[in-house]
Amino acid sequence: MTTAPWATRRTFAIISHPDAGKTTLTEKLLLQGGAIHLAGEVKARGAARRARSDWMKIEQQRGISVTSSVMTFEKDGIVFNLLDTPGHEDFSEDTYRTLTAVDSAIMVIDAAKGIEPQTLKLFEVCRLRSVPIITFVNKVDREGRPCFEILDEVADKLALDVCPMSWPVGMGGTFEGILDFATGGVSRPEGDSREFLGTIDANPTLPAEVAEEVELAQAGYPEFDLEAYRHGDLTPVYFGSALKNFGVSELIDAIAKFAPPPRPQPSEAGEISPDNGEVTGFIFKVQANMDPQHRDRIAFMRLCSGTFKRGMKLTPSGLGKPVAIHSPILFFAQDREIADTAEPGDIIGIPNHGTLRVGDTLSEKNGVRFTGLPNFAPEILRRVVLRDPTKTKQLRKALDDLSEEGVIQVFYPEIGSNWVVGVVGQLQLDVLISRLEAEYKVDAFLEPAPYDTARWLIGSDTALKAFAQFNGGNMAKDRDRNPVFMARSSWDVGYQQEKNPDLTFSATKER
Ligand code: G4P
Repeated sequence: MTTAPWATRRTFAIISHPDAGKTTLTEKLLLQGGAIHLAGEVKARGAARRARSDWMKIEQQRGISVTSSVMTFEKDGIVFNLLDTPGHEDFSEDTYRTLTAVDSAIMVIDAAKGIEPQTLKLFEVCRLRSVPIITFVNKVDREGRPCFEILDEVADKLALDVCPMSWPVGMGGTFEGILDFATGGVSRPEGDSREFLGTIDANPTLPAEVAEEVELAQAGYPEFDLEAYRHGDLTPVYFGSALKNFGVSELIDAIAKFAPPPRPQPSEAGEISPDNGEVTGFIFKVQANMDPQHRDRIAFMRLCSGTFKRGMKLTPSGLGKPVAIHSPILFFAQDREIADTAEPGDIIGIPNHGTLRVGDTLSEKNGVRFTGLPNFAPEILRRVVLRDPTKTKQLRKALDDLSEEGVIQVFYPEIGSNWVVGVVGQLQLDVLISRLEAEYKVDAFLEPAPYDTARWLIGSDTALKAFAQFNGGNMAKDRDRNPVFMARSSWDVGYQQEKNPDLTFSATKER
């Protein structure tokens, strides 16, 4: 039996709190995968890319990466598609949506810090979709918290079964390598840098206290269970040091061996299996061209079924008119290459002028519509005020464009003239102002809005009308003309929900 090409795909993301070591680990994974040849290239490339665009100054100032990209590498017949999620503390919808395009994730935690707030938030997004998680406890070359404490914290805070797959032989000053439970071998540090350079001690003698810990760990935690992992109920835990290269090849092997190949994707007509012959995919991200002079956009599509061939015509669910995809881009870490074919699980970049939107399904026959790509209720709402009132048209265009990209959400109040933007993290507002100026030449500022959050209203026309009669001042339309209730507080949402049982006040909107 030959394996279908899609079965060799592992599409995953790394989730972590800033500083836990995601960049370092990404670099080491790409190095081992042969996708880059020198450590430091991920950062260097990022810097070169950033220099190209004005609004990305924010990235430089804050030392963060706002944009996310895709890195593909191949090892031992497995194609790894690593989707980068922005790693800053401020949350953006981009991050959420990227996680809708992966089949599994690696969660990196700092051995000294354990589960941090951003890790938890990202984990919760994964849990919503039962995305299986492999845990990497990083920086064991430094002093960290006791392993048992870390394992129990993961188990308690995330309500997951944990299964240690390896164990550090000491930490910090006493660090003497990593014991792999599967082989019984210890990978040893070497030379002045104390890196892992390939030496494995097949018959190690463990210090007494480590031997004791290992015995306890193996007896005290559940055994690895592939089904439980794939359901998102259990996480295998690897200890290591991305900086010193410990545990990295074990991680790659774990993804190859345990992580699921492309999973069936939920659609309005039931799950679409990657085996389904028709080419289907969905757009999870749209990114403006780095060059502010050009209004080109790259839409990132995750392929869900069928074999995509260059030049193919696909119909976006929002449009009804087929689009021929002549120059799809496949993202290799080194370069961007024109893709001739792509398989389920692969990501392709589709250049376009704004026809493709986040959440669109693309398919050959236009019969499929994927679900589960939500908009999230904004946590920060601001009024946009123009300094030059003659620029209203430009502002409207800019807000529409930027909401299409998922940078912000935009709400047009039923009463009053100031448009309201909503975001889930402060950073998105900085990006908004900066891009309005750089790309649209619109000078605007933001002022507080009397609302705290927003909810999409779902219900019959009669129920909506009745509600609007009393709450007109708090009603708005989103970009797709869906009715939205602008709430003064979450208490307000609860109160209105109780008073209007015929309406649903939804915190997410599925496109
Ligand atoms: P992030 O992308 O998750 O934000 O983290 P990043 O990889 O940038 O790592 C954050 C800091 O932690 C970096 O140090 C990095 O070198 C260090 N680090 C990552 N992995 C390990 C590890 O396994 N062991 C140790 N000891 N340190 C690790 P920095 O000083 O902030 O940056 P740099 O000047 O070294 O680049």
